[in-house]
This record gives sequence, C-alpha cells and structure tokens, in this order.
Amino acid sequence: MSAVSRKKSISSASFNLQSYVGDCTDAVNRALDKFLPKETVAPPTIHKAMRYSIFAGGKRMRPALCLAAAEACGGKQVDAMPLACAVECIHTYSLIHDDLPAMDNDDFRRGKPTNHKVFGEGIAVLAGDALLTQAFEIAALSKSWPRYSHRELVLEIAKASGSLQLIAGQVADLEGEGKKVSEAQLKYIHERKTSALLCCSVRLGGMSANCTPPQLKALTDFGYNVGLAFQVIDDILDVTQTTEQLGKTAGKDTKAQKATYPSIVGLEKSRAIAEQLTKRAFDALKPFKGKAQALEGLAEYLLKRDK
Ligand code: IPE
Ligand code: IPE
Ligand code: MG
Ligand code: MG
Ligand code: MG
Repeated sequence: MSAVSRKKSISSASFNLQSYVGDCTDAVNRALDKFLPKETVAPPTIHKAMRYSIFAGGKRMRPALCLAAAEACGGKQVDAMPLACAVECIHTYSLIHDDLPAMDNDDFRRGKPTNHKVFGEGIAVLAGDALLTQAFEIAALSKSWPRYSHRELVLEIAKASGSLQLIAGQVADLEGEGKKVSEAQLKYIHERKTSALLCCSVRLGGMSANCTPPQLKALTDFGYNVGLAFQVIDDILDVTQTTEQLGKTAGKDTKAQKATYPSIVGLEKSRAIAEQLTKRAFDALKPFKGKAQALEGLAEYLLKRDK
C-alpha cells in the first residue's frame, strides 16, 4: 500500500471531500458573482467575456485550497473568501491567455469553446488583463490581519503571478517547445507556471487566519509539493484522458512537442513522481496534528483526479 493510500480515504465518514468541494465551489461562485461587474455593465462585451470563462465550470481547486488552509489554521471561510476569489481570477486569466493562438492555441477549455473562439483574440486578451487586475481589487477589499497587512497580501499575489514565477514558467514552457528539455529544467517550469499560484493560494488561506510563522512554513511546503504534483498529473492526463473527459483538447502536449513529465521520464515514472510529491505534501501537514483534514483530502483528490 502506498504512503498516500494509507491515509484517510477521501470518502471516509468523518470527511466527505465531494461535499466539501461542492460547498466550496458554491460559496466561491456566489462570491465571484458579487465581486465581478454584471454582464450588463458597460462595456458589456468585456464583462460578458470575463464571466464566460470564470463561470465556465473550473474545478475551483485554488480557492478550495485557500479556504481549506484557512480552516486548518482556525480561520473563518468568510475572511479567506476574497483571497480565494482573487486567486481564481488570476488562474482564469492565465488560462485565457494560455489558450490564445500565440500560446497553446487551444479551442476548448472547461468544456466550452475558448474565450478567443467566442469573443475574438482582442477581447480575450483584454478579458485576461481585466481578471488579473480584478484580482488585486478584490485583494484590496479583503481584511488585513495583525501579522499580514494588505502589503503582504498584495506582494504574495504579485510575486506568484509575476515575471519571476507564473510568467517565468509560461515563458520557459513556450521556449521549451520542440527542444530537448532536462528533468531539472522541466521542474523549473512546473515550479513557476503552476506550483507558485497553488502555493500562493494555500499561503493566503493561512494568512487570512493570521497564521503563525511555523504554520505558514508548513503551508508553503504543502503548497509547493501539491502544486508540483498538480502539473505532473495535468501532463499525465493530457496523454491518458479524452477531450470529453478533460473539457480541454487531449493530446495537445505531444502535438505541440511540449516538455512534459510523460515525454521525458515516461508515464510510470511520472505517476511515481506525483505520488512522492503528494507524500511530501502530506508530511508537511504534520504540525497541524489532524486539523488539516480538508487539505489532506484535496491533496489526495488532486493525485487521483481524472480531469
Ligand atoms: C489547468 O488548471 C492549468 C494548469 C495549471 C495545469 P486546472 O486543472 O485547475 O483548471 P480548471 O480551473 O479546473 O479549469
Ligand atoms: C498552464 O499549463 C499553466 C498556466 C496557465 C499558468 P498548461 O498549458 O499545461 O495547462 P492546460 O493543459 O492548457 O490546462
Ligand atoms: Mg501552456
Ligand atoms: Mg495549455
Ligand atoms: Mg496541460
């Protein structure tokens, strides 16, 4: 039995992950609906485009991780919610731009035609820009805490999404197309394009609960490893799943000659790496002494997910 499967099953009686994620998704969707300008607000095209991608049906894993981290530190969901919405805005912006013809050139996302397919490339670029900016507006509207002022919160989001992290990963991802990329270089890409924002989501959750420095350190280790595992699984699913199952075009990585774990180390080793990273994530939660059930459940789900 693997280290991960020894852990509490996600369907255990004491913690039902499915209903946890369902509740988080409903609450996050309600909050996002309040934060984003209505479709009818001028200029309506941009607000329609922003809402089209935000409400297209993503898994909401970054907000769920943010809310779960707040809970692990004894915080309230309501305090973490603006930050959970802010990271989802950043994530959705990054997907709209990632799908553009100049980047991954994808036609499907979240089970629907991509933003640029519906609204055109110009509006899709602007919808991404607007969601990125919206994230900072929402973060500014959140509370601040004795240990974490707005300065820390804004820095946290800016650093994770900026040219040293998420953008750096996307740059290296594009520049790696069709090239021989080493495992170390691939890890560099994954740390930045994906792990940085997942880690930021978890840390912001902790900050919204005024967490202690040791708690923040534990959440950082957890988020970093879960974030890396997340992209390894994303790479695996691109190979093993269908477009219908994923809601985005399967097999695109091979076609675009992307550097991925399956292309560099093979499927079997990729799965072993994702398991090992998830085990490290579980180990990071030890200081919470069983109070991080939701984070554990999410980490296990993210490893076993099929979309
Ligand atoms: C896809 O993220 C992009 C990656 C960083 C791999 P998700 O798999 O979380 O996408 P949604 O939010 O569920 O659509
Ligand atoms: C996307 O990575 C990462 C960001 C959007 C920052 P991918 O290009 O692998 O994501 P998918 O597979 O299109 O969802
Ligand atoms: Mg990409
Ligand atoms: Mg892509
Ligand atoms: Mg992918």
